[in-house]
Amino acid sequence: MPFTPDNELDLLFPASLISQDLKSQLHPDVHIRPLASTDHSRGHLTVLSVLTVATDLGEAAWSAQFNAMRGAPQTYYSLVIVDKNSDRIVGAGTVFIERKFLRGLGSVGHIEDIAVDKQQQGKKLGIRIIQALTHISENIGCYKTILNCSRDNVPFYVKCGFEEKECEMAKYAPAKPNAQSQPKPQPQLNAQSPRL
Ligand SMILES: CC(C)(COP(=O)(O)OP(=O)(O)OC[C@H]1O[C@@H](n2cnc3c(N)ncnc32)[C@H](O)[C@@H]1OP(=O)(O)O)[C@@H](O)C(=O)NCCC(=O)NCCS
Repeated sequence: MPFTPDNELDLLFPASLISQDLKSQLHPDVHIRPLASTDHSRGHLTVLSVLTVATDLGEAAWSAQFNAMRGAPQTYYSLVIVDKNSDRIVGAGTVFIERKFLRGLGSVGHIEDIAVDKQQQGKKLGIRIIQALTHISENIGCYKTILNCSRDNVPFYVKCGFEEKECEMAKYAPAKPNAQSQPKPQPQLNAQSPRL
């Protein structure tokens, strides 16, 4: 597949939010950009599968999730690294922005789902993804950027400038047979309540 330039893609957020300095540090064979509406077919889920089982619910479901993320403006910043020779995705990561009432109505950037294709690991793609996401988070005005990781990956994140802080707790919802992992539809807050 020939490489598709940014101006031919429908991007999740403006490409200008990715540091130009950082782009120039990447190998010329790869390109970093926001996630695009057609990235299901460029292997987005295949790259994410280095993290966990990445069940493919089909392109339409993937696109619906992309559109839901775009429908929450200034919240989701997912980016990808593309191999220009194949137009395939070889790395991915996301920072999403939490708005707070604390810290003078401050914001926190949460880094999630960092993945580099097995063949491409060890070539500084992971560190560039983290630097790009942190740059976005800090430019938006987040007072901190945080993430969870396995013990094995602590040295990687230390090299990315992070430090260990407190601990993570998790409670997984009980598995439901045949349930999809979509959030339940919420009642519309601005919908008129029926008269009692
Ligand atoms: C973890 C991961 C994102 C790192 O990406 P990568 O492109 O392989 O890493 P980089 O080449 O950018 O590494 C940057 C530096 O960190 C080091 N590093 C990377 N992973 C490391 C690890 N697990 N332990 C120790 N050091 C590590 C590299 O040696 C390199 O060091 P250097 O600058 O001294 O040469 C990648 O290996 C990956 O996708 N792993 C599987 C999925 C995963 O665990 N994701 C993270 C979820 S929290």
